Amino acid sequence: MKYARITGTGGYLPKRVMTNKDFEAIVDTSDEWIRERTGIIRRHIAADDEKTSDMGLAAAREALQMAETDAKDVDLIIVATSTPDKVFPSTACIVQRRLGISGFAAFDVNAACSGFVYALDIANRFVRTGGSKCALVIGAEIYSRIINWNDRGTCVLFGDGAGAVILQASDEAGILSTHSHADGQHEELLHVPAGISSGYDQVRQESAFIQMKGHEVFRAAVGVLGAIARETLTANNVKESDIAWLIPHQANLRIISAAAKKLKLPMDRVVVTVDEHANTSSASIPLALDVAVRDGRIKRGDLLLLEAFGAGFTWGSALVRF
Ligand code: ACO
Repeated sequence: MKYARITGTGGYLPKRVMTNKDFEAIVDTSDEWIRERTGIIRRHIAADDEKTSDMGLAAAREALQMAETDAKDVDLIIVATSTPDKVFPSTACIVQRRLGISGFAAFDVNAACSGFVYALDIANRFVRTGGSKCALVIGAEIYSRIINWNDRGTCVLFGDGAGAVILQASDEAGILSTHSHADGQHEELLHVPAGISSGYDQVRQESAFIQMKGHEVFRAAVGVLGAIARETLTANNVKESDIAWLIPHQANLRIISAAAKKLKLPMDRVVVTVDEHANTSSASIPLALDVAVRDGRIKRGDLLLLEAFGAGFTWGSALVRF
């Protein structure tokens, strides 16, 4: 078996939808500002009793169904999340139990918004080296729980959701290459300062919420996404024009457009869901993939470039023959 091939995709979005207009009643903002600066129109927000594992499980079930695979065939679960249900056990172990399976490795990966491409990179290596024949890779996040709802600079940007893929060992082409990077120097440009070992600052409650220097993050994202796209194409000896679909992390339409421009790809070859989902962090790429597979845009044999950027900073990509 030479490749890890995506045989199924799935997605889940919470029922509750919040529009930009809804934010006008909460902070000093406008539908116009949010649309113009980010491309976001609406986002889904999890119910109070909904957890990351609930959403990941729903996406996983859809992916298994599309792959026509029984949960008992899964032999690896990786959940990309920075908003796990609990400190431990991992959300992956919770999903495993709820699927009624056990015995094999199940763990979480936290690379913020790059989490899914990191998890795909790891799962690809498991499958290609014979450590797994059927991997379930999930990206699931509830950022509504780490948003400061009084901070207009961040609260309008995020949404909740989950996406999943089934990766199976195959002789047919699948994932062609994966690339993961990080540069920890920029920790404080984008972070949630609270943590188990750092503690929770009762006086400054905002330590439990996302803090971001948007402008600096924007500039860094555009730069590294250009570089990782070049690295990925060069590694595979393919041209920009060979890419059927670019599936970028969905943080901001302006970042996505800049990434497409660097690749000389028209926007009708870019999967965009940021308008409907906002930034769902590590769920954004598998959700976008699932949307475009289910609506028929992505077809078997298409060459896909997945690329992400997130807190850390982290960034990564995957070139996939679907
Ligand atoms: N409504 C109205 N005005 C606002 C809002 C809002 N929601 N938010 C900020 N503003 C104001 C600011 O206060 C500022 O006002 P001032 O000029 O009076 O000071 C003005 O708008 C411009 O603010 P900027 O921050 O310069 O706006 P910018 O054009 O950079 O857009 C944004 C901000 C959308 C956050 C952008 O910088 C961005 O998308 N950054 C990247 C986000 C990202 O990619 N994150 C990565 C992944 S997230 C993860 O890994 C967890």
